[in-house]
Amino acid sequence: MKAIIPAAGVGTRFLPVTKAQPKEMLPVVDRPAIQYVVEEALAAAASEVIIVSNDDKPSIVEHFSPAPELERYLADRGKNELAAAVTHAGSLPVSFVPQPEPLGLGHAVLCAAEKIGQEPPEPFFVLLGDVLVPDNKILPRMKEVSAAHGGASVIAVFRVPLSEVSRFGVIDGELVAGNEEDGSGVWRINALVEKPPAPEAPSALAIFGRYLLTPKVMELLAKTAPGAGGEIQLTDALVALLEHEELYAIEINVADGFDTGTIETWLDTTIRLALRNPQLAKVVKAAADTEN
Ligand code: UTP
Repeated sequence: MKAIIPAAGVGTRFLPVTKAQPKEMLPVVDRPAIQYVVEEALAAAASEVIIVSNDDKPSIVEHFSPAPELERYLADRGKNELAAAVTHAGSLPVSFVPQPEPLGLGHAVLCAAEKIGQEPPEPFFVLLGDVLVPDNKILPRMKEVSAAHGGASVIAVFRVPLSEVSRFGVIDGELVAGNEEDGSGVWRINALVEKPPAPEAPSALAIFGRYLLTPKVMELLAKTAPGAGGEIQLTDALVALLEHEELYAIEINVADGFDTGTIETWLDTTIRLALRNPQLAKVVKAAADTEN
């Protein structure tokens, strides 16, 4: 199964940091955010990783290209661990398609349609380039649920406080496996509602940035008109999908996902992941003590 990583958004919420570089290139502890996402797709045995990028911000392409001179420079100075890290980033098997204009997440996915190919039509993953799942727990479960339901599309959802549902796409569905209490639920989706006011929200299960989609979604995206914000929305194509195919959702543990799309979420992600490293945890705690 191929994986598409959209990474061509404007990054408005992170300006001016994202004026000249994509937010997906922001460092998260020891790697740019998007490298975690590529590694997650490869850990789920993606046969190809396709990054949708913005030609005006070429640093993602550069990051995943070999850098023999830098490798030699580091090796000559005995910095073998760093040389290995540079070699690793430059040898990850990724390819690129440009999104000529940031016309929305759905449009970014559609830009990769030719790379996904039609013969034979195959399902594919979509992993948002600014959302990290460092423990790689979600895609394998999505594959299992898809297989259990005849190869249907599966999306990941997470439980948000009701007061926050109006910021997300929310599902309406029936529990078909697992249970709600321990967060292991699998839902057959009846409807998707974009940013509902809290009293009208059909649930508190919000769409998270991981999708396993059938080729029908690509076909529907090609017919999807611009929606909210004048952008081609992936959610609109999923709403259209419900008229043709079943769509499932798995509930994920909110602690398994790390958003990096805003200053607040990037900071939270960076601190939480730094705390997993004993050496860096000391730095975080010492910094907090110094400021208190
Ligand atoms: P976001 O909505 O988080 O990214 O899209 P954005 O549009 O860059 O953010 P703001 O709202 O301006 O701050 C989720 C993912 O989809 C990609 C983004 O790069 C991000 O990884 N995306 C979004 C595209 O590739 N193209 C688009 O047109 C829109």
